Amino acid sequence: MSDAEFFPSALGTKDHWDAVYSCELQAFQEYGDEGEIWFGEGSMTRVVRWINAHTIPHSSSVLDIGTGNGMLLVELAKAGYSNLMGVDYCADAIALARSICEKEGVSQSVKLQVTDFLDSFSPSEQFDICLDKGTFDAVSLDPSDAQEKRTQYVNVLCTILKPKGLFIITSCNWTKEELLKQFDKEFEMIDALPTPTFSFGGQSGHSATALVFQRRGNS
Ligand SMILES: C[S@@+](CC[C@H](N)C(=O)[O-])C[C@H]1O[C@@H](n2cnc3c(N)ncnc32)[C@H](O)[C@@H]1O
Repeated sequence: MSDAEFFPSALGTKDHWDAVYSCELQAFQEYGDEGEIWFGEGSMTRVVRWINAHTIPHSSSVLDIGTGNGMLLVELAKAGYSNLMGVDYCADAIALARSICEKEGVSQSVKLQVTDFLDSFSPSEQFDICLDKGTFDAVSLDPSDAQEKRTQYVNVLCTILKPKGLFIITSCNWTKEELLKQFDKEFEMIDALPTPTFSFGGQSGHSATALVFQRRGNS
């Protein structure tokens, strides 16, 4: 896919997310509002349900890349998962996620860290599962060099995910075929989660794409 098909946007900048989460953190502090769940509640439920249905051990290490308010991790903690981590390059997002985890009583199960996933993330151990809901989309819209950022994303993902580890991505920018093109070399798609459909002008499509990939290779 060429960048000509994709329009760089403020949504791909840290300044944008800093402004978003500064407001959301303030709203949480003032009114207890947990903020936006990207792609709606259903997008979280789908991922949690898939993980539960595949009897993945509760001790598995799970990383949420660009965790935002951390709600996906809260849901996983409530489902019994206890080795969870969320990273985000936006300090207010992590402050919000931390406050929500405390309020929901799941802080013991969730580690949170302010980190630029593309630049400075070097965990001590590889993860069993990596999750992404909307973060690869944001990276893909980076006005500086989106193609380079996407390549970097895949490279970092391959260093921090165990061989045969799972990568579950929800995107509203990319179709299934486009995501396959992005990840196919290093990952095998093992499932596609059902997502809501829409019709417009006689055409129908999906409002989001949610795929489960498994990292190829043994090392
Ligand atoms: C569309 S929001 C999704 C947030 C969250 N995953 C959710 O589903 O609510 C994208 C998130 O990615 C984060 N993000 C974007 N680029 C990042 C990077 N290079 N490193 C860490 N976080 C990043 C943003 O700060 C933002 O929280």
